[in-house]
Amino acid sequence: LRVSEVLVRNYFLACGAICVIAAAAGSVVLFPVTRIHAAKVNEPAYTSSGDMLPPANYREWVYLSTGLGMSYTAKPADAPNFDNVFVNPEAYHSFLATGTWPDKTVMVLEGREARSNGSINQSGHFQGTGITGVEVHVKDEGRFPGKWAFFDFGPGANGKLIPQAASCYTCHAEHGAVDNTFVQFYPTLLPIAKDKGTLSAEFLKDEAAHVAPAAK
Ligand code: HEC
Repeated sequence: LRVSEVLVRNYFLACGAICVIAAAAGSVVLFPVTRIHAAKVNEPAYTSSGDMLPPANYREWVYLSTGLGMSYTAKPADAPNFDNVFVNPEAYHSFLATGTWPDKTVMVLEGREARSNGSINQSGHFQGTGITGVEVHVKDEGRFPGKWAFFDFGPGANGKLIPQAASCYTCHAEHGAVDNTFVQFYPTLLPIAKDKGTLSAEFLKDEAAHVAPAAK
């Protein structure tokens, strides 16, 4: 009897150890290291190869604006999209106080298909569930030569760095109202930038000339 009691106890101990090992292995499989959250969840984080990790909770950040079918040439966009812009709350609060962006600002441009005639809708457009693209503008002063960088996110993938020579950088630098960003299209921020005197010389020149930014 005693022998079998010992056997039973050992059996349960062994089983417990196996469960612990299995659970640890499971968590490694479920949370691979490349997708782990940055220490501060709203700060930019990168893989060792320089890709940017997706800002997972940007839909809970501060909403700045939506553009509809915005085009930078005289020709309208073929299929109009909505562009929703979000910024991390830390950078937003800093902007309210200073009229410009702090280091570690992350701005997300989320494209959504424009739909019509769905449900009870008969005219106008609403946003579809389909995401047409996600691009990020990130200020990381110690990391990028021009302080800012753009990343392009494919569906379910990490962001690919867009090279500094791309037209993204030129248009944003030459026409963005505040520090390479298009604050002139973010209605709650433009009055703050005016108030704090942080509007860029390039933007003020555009305003004076009343010209639309030319496409590059
Ligand atoms: C011809 C000018 C122009 C070019 C080129 C351009 N953008 Fe923009 N970008 C804009 C405008 C205007 C907005 C404001 C959009 C809105 O209000 O919906 C904007 C906004 C953004 C934002 C939101 C944050 C911010 O900086 O204001 C991101 C992210 C962005 N663009 C990424 C890109 C990327 C990536 C490229 C290159 C592939 C690019 N842009 C090229 C004009 C441009």
